[in-house]
Amino acid sequence: MKIFHLSAECYPVAKVGGLADVVGALPKYQNLAGLQAAVVMPFYDRKFTQENEFETVFRGSTLLGIRRLYFEILKETTDKLGFELFLVKIPGLLDREEVYSYPDETEQFVAFQLAFLDWINYSQQSPDLIHCHDHHSGLIPFLLYHSRLYVRLANTATVFTIHNGQYHGAFGWDRLSYLPEIDLTQTGLLDWAGGINPLASAVKCCWRYTTVSPTYLHELTIQSNGLEYLFYMEHEKGVGILNGIDTDVWNPATDPMLANKISKTQITKGKQANKAALCKRFDLSPDKPLISFIGRLVVEKGADLLATAMEESFNEHPGGFNFLVLGAGDKETEKELLDLKAFYPESCAVFIGYDEVLAHLIYAGSDFLLMPSRVEPCGLNQLYALRYGTLPIVRSTGGLKDSVIDFGEEGGYGIRFNNADVEDICHAISRAVILYNNTKHLQTLRKFMMALDFSWARSAKAYIDLYKSLNPVI
Ligand code: ADP
Ligand code: GLC
Repeated sequence: MKIFHLSAECYPVAKVGGLADVVGALPKYQNLAGLQAAVVMPFYDRKFTQENEFETVFRGSTLLGIRRLYFEILKETTDKLGFELFLVKIPGLLDREEVYSYPDETEQFVAFQLAFLDWINYSQQSPDLIHCHDHHSGLIPFLLYHSRLYVRLANTATVFTIHNGQYHGAFGWDRLSYLPEIDLTQTGLLDWAGGINPLASAVKCCWRYTTVSPTYLHELTIQSNGLEYLFYMEHEKGVGILNGIDTDVWNPATDPMLANKISKTQITKGKQANKAALCKRFDLSPDKPLISFIGRLVVEKGADLLATAMEESFNEHPGGFNFLVLGAGDKETEKELLDLKAFYPESCAVFIGYDEVLAHLIYAGSDFLLMPSRVEPCGLNQLYALRYGTLPIVRSTGGLKDSVIDFGEEGGYGIRFNNADVEDICHAISRAVILYNNTKHLQTLRKFMMALDFSWARSAKAYIDLYKSLNPVI
């Protein structure tokens, strides 16, 4: 079965968040299971593209409204990622450094999708299935089924995965001309709330859509930035599949980013060595419980609650724990956290920025990882934390709810709280501080959670079963 995954991000080529981790791992595991899965993404001028070899496999041009865009499809020559990687390069549009945040983002991602379709159409390729991820490739199902240009491909199955239902990529009808030779009787399939909405269109037109956790499938009908009714109406097409983690990249016993590995037989020793290194770097005492946060500093992640919650907790447990943040995002939140650090220099450290190696060290060297998310479609941080023996403290939502069981319940191993507010966070921190002092219990929990299986092998199979249900002939 031949599949193309279309995505704006893919680790290690270009990563902003968990979308990259998923698209960098799922195809690899699908290939191991006997599929032919490849990834297609925009070209970015970044370390990976500068340091690796590519060959041009196709040159063409496409029309974006009245603008003719010349594009190239580049293929990574070694297939070292475990899947074929194709990059769509369009001079002046898809050859920049950043993944998001350009004012012409609509033009970038529409052009990406048109170039992909033109490439497979003109080179006579016939994939069995096209798997689109998030709104950046959300127009593909509509274009496949309702544009005269691509009739050859009109029977191709499409699966659409929603990693984040808050962002839709919507734009105005004044840019309808970007979509070539479409059936104008079908434009309702593009529309939501008076605009062209790629996320809504994908949900309407794809054969099946998936969410990255079962709970999030349901939550979208309650909170999806205006698409609640659509998700309610289309829910029979939806399937919730919890993400996995790439256990080759995220293995504490072999992780090349860690100076001190954590082997199964020497968990306490390995954790302590990493904690010592981390605390030394940030001038924190290694004798206190270390609670960390990693992630985008945005409202979705509850990052705006951190400074106030920590201040209250520091006052409640004077000198009782340390807090470390790695993240970047809202300027106001960054400032609040830096102010917190200035007031509590002995208990708090803040690193504003993106640092993959430091993230690995934090998962390995912390005692607890805090995730007070308001919305968390899946969340990978808690899965990495579990694997690295760091107890997750999570708000009970989305994938956090599906992957973390409170240690107070039978078979539990984490700390869960219900509300994304300061009070619940403080209460959860108090529980963590108490648990830390019960060394034996903490050690037992660590051993248990490190042995849990959140690998892709399980989730990749769920996707394959879904594909097969769409195309039983293959
Ligand atoms: P999201 O995709 O919503 O940001 P996920 O939990 O799915 O959340 O994935 C976040 C990924 O990004 C994880 O791999 C996490 O380690 C990484 N990450 C987030 N912020 C940073 C940062 N500042 N530095 C390094 N890695 C980060
Ligand atoms: C999104 C979600 C996150 C999820 C990731 C990968 O970025 O915010 O919860 O883990 O996608 O699916």
